[in-house]
Amino acid sequence: MSWLRRKSIDLVTAHEEGRRLLPTLSWPHLVALGIGAIVGTGIYTLIGVGAGLAGPAVLVSFVVAGVVCACAALAYAEMATMMPAAGSAYTYSYAVLGETLAWIVGWSLILEYTLVVSAVAVGWSGSAQEFLAGIGLPLPAALAAGPHAGGIVNLPAVLITFVVAGLLIVGTKESATLNAVLVAVKVVALTVFVAIALPHFDAGNLHPFMPHGFFESIGADGRKYGVMAAAAIIFFAFYGFDAISTAAEETRNPARDLSIGIVGSMLACTLIYVLVALAAVGALSYAVFTQSAAPLALIMRELGQGTAAGIVSGAAVVALPTVLLAFFYGQSRIFFVMSRDGLLPRSLSKVGRRGTPVAITVFTAVLTGALAGVARLDEIAALANAGTLIAFVAVAACLLVLRKREPQRPRVFRTPLAWLVGPVAILGCAYLFWSLPTKTQLWCLLWNAFGLVVYLAYSRRRSLLAKGVDA
Ligand code: ALA
Repeated sequence: MSWLRRKSIDLVTAHEEGRRLLPTLSWPHLVALGIGAIVGTGIYTLIGVGAGLAGPAVLVSFVVAGVVCACAALAYAEMATMMPAAGSAYTYSYAVLGETLAWIVGWSLILEYTLVVSAVAVGWSGSAQEFLAGIGLPLPAALAAGPHAGGIVNLPAVLITFVVAGLLIVGTKESATLNAVLVAVKVVALTVFVAIALPHFDAGNLHPFMPHGFFESIGADGRKYGVMAAAAIIFFAFYGFDAISTAAEETRNPARDLSIGIVGSMLACTLIYVLVALAAVGALSYAVFTQSAAPLALIMRELGQGTAAGIVSGAAVVALPTVLLAFFYGQSRIFFVMSRDGLLPRSLSKVGRRGTPVAITVFTAVLTGALAGVARLDEIAALANAGTLIAFVAVAACLLVLRKREPQRPRVFRTPLAWLVGPVAILGCAYLFWSLPTKTQLWCLLWNAFGLVVYLAYSRRRSLLAKGVDA
């Protein structure tokens, strides 16, 4: 058995009967799925954390993270159109880099998707509780938070996880249409924010621009500060476009739909973010909103715009589930494909009557719901970034390896300047990983060490590839 055994690219999209997903989506669904997955906790909450680490230069952090993600998105577009199969970075790595590296990527994706789902569920729970308290229905403390915050279980976070799982079991297309409506709500809310905050722009708020420098410096509290440390956290705000590639198998015209979906949603979000960040740091001294759990709403209130503050925070409650939806969707598809390949138990990859993988969706709901019930929001967001960065490096590496190994293979979408874009994505992601908190890096290594034990003890022998299927 070779450590480097690979799936054949041509067979990546050929699947057995009963384990095939239905193609029901087209590009508007995918752009909406992308924006739905990208615009969320990052821009609504972490913009404050980023400003605390970088000062007004958080603007630069947005640009750095945006450029790295744009390069990764281009690599994703080439790979996803070449291999339009569920599984995203894991599937590309399986065909290009070999099973062992694919396992590490898949295992990292499980970390990313699970933690994003759980983190956003916890964030949503906070907003929902604020809303319930506002109408005189506060939750008992025991059901409002996990043990780390003095409660027993974060019940709303668990419930929202199961509601989204239910939507996905009912059918992919129905969920994607609902997602499109919710996406419109949050884009309108951010537009309202920019329209109100930008006229209050005061260049004085940008001084000092870079109080903690560019490269990370260690603060008195032992934390990493600076533009790059902020970029490593702000990175959370940008990803989600990768979730589109997990829908590849369910798109009607993968070549056109995937490239428009991935690159289009990424560009739209980068534009929205830079405008929101510029409006935010220009309207108010950054020090005022770094500690806030809802910095955009706080800025609106400080500017005397109570109604706009209500719109922005209300939209967060309505819109955060779109992020949940997309990552939940991606998570169940990653599990699904790894199980179909034999690396996880095969019983998980049976498709129900409606063409959706029911068993795996329920399994994912139990896992993410349990985590959301007890997890700490701040630390899991950073750990989700670590898993994502590993996947992005792998996809950019796949792009370059395949350009070298199979230059003649037809490419529906060709990444422009691949030999610049690929290395920028790889080195950029590596540097962002380096800029993450040390504790996060250690947890990520531990998770993958555990993953390798599972691989050696279970998956390596059960892999369909090892049994000669699709060899
Ligand atoms: N980009 C997503 C968010 O910011 C994960 O919530």
